[in-house]
Amino acid sequence: MADLRMFDLSGKVALVTGGNGGIGRGIALGLARAGANVAIVARNEERNRATQKELAALGVKALALKVDLSNRKALRPAFDQIERELAPIDILVNNAAFAILKGLLDHTEEDWDAVLETDLTACFVLSKYAAQSMIPRKRGKIINVASVGGYKGTPIYPSYGVSKGGLLQLTRCLAIELAPHNIQVNSLAPGWTTTDMTDWIRNDPRYAAVKEEMITRTPAGRFADPDEMAGAAVFLASDASQFVTGADLIVDGGFFIR
Ligand SMILES: NC(=O)c1ccc[n+]([C@@H]2O[C@H](COP(=O)([O-])OP(=O)(O)OC[C@H]3O[C@@H](n4cnc5c(N)ncnc54)[C@H](OP(=O)(O)O)[C@@H]3O)[C@@H](O)[C@H]2O)c1
Repeated sequence: MADLRMFDLSGKVALVTGGNGGIGRGIALGLARAGANVAIVARNEERNRATQKELAALGVKALALKVDLSNRKALRPAFDQIERELAPIDILVNNAAFAILKGLLDHTEEDWDAVLETDLTACFVLSKYAAQSMIPRKRGKIINVASVGGYKGTPIYPSYGVSKGGLLQLTRCLAIELAPHNIQVNSLAPGWTTTDMTDWIRNDPRYAAVKEEMITRTPAGRFADPDEMAGAAVFLASDASQFVTGADLIVDGGFFIR
């Protein structure tokens, strides 16, 4: 029988932002299957409750809090509540994000601020709280869910592309600063994945050609299932990745290499 203890997350506490759907839910369930107690934060209470139930059914402690990550003032109380109700956070997964599909000329300053606030600033703020909590314990894992869109230029969502490029750079900066404290900071960059976020490209006939191009360019020949991000997240959350920091783990069926 294989010894998989290096991937074991039993007793660890993970916070997954945007953990009530899509990739965040896939990651939250993956971490719970590896033994972690999991807190999720997101806005939709019905989906929060449903995911909390799924997590608890795996035999771990589960908490779901209604939090709007664009409200900076809500972040400290939510973080503290999770640490009070579960235990200090060992694993932070900055996953929640959204995109506004408008090019430069249609993109308003409000659009820009809204995307950057949720997709990048909330990650910075929560990473700071997590680091403050982890440093005295001399261990921790921060995983930023980036995107292959953080590397490539695109005319369709400049603020999203910039937030993901920024998140890749934030990952490198924090990895260097936190390495002496035995905290590893990495990113996970999904390729095209079947979630609400990609509903437009998968189902809107206006984007049929773009969808076809994405599938053709992806050697695996398909979109990913959200659950397929879980293995990479468990690796980055576990002792198996103890000497991996500042890295970006691309999980895209080969899309990036073409
Ligand atoms: N899907 C893809 O093809 C793809 C590709 C590359 C990277 N990614 C990245 O993967 C991550 C997850 O994307 P996804 O496809 O799973 O998206 P999704 O299905 O739209 O899920 C987004 C999650 O974030 C939460 N969220 C959004 N805005 C929030 C806010 N202001 N406050 C709190 N929670 C918020 C949503 O919950 P509520 O609405 O209930 O708040 C939901 O749980 C994102 O970082 C995305 O950029 C996705």
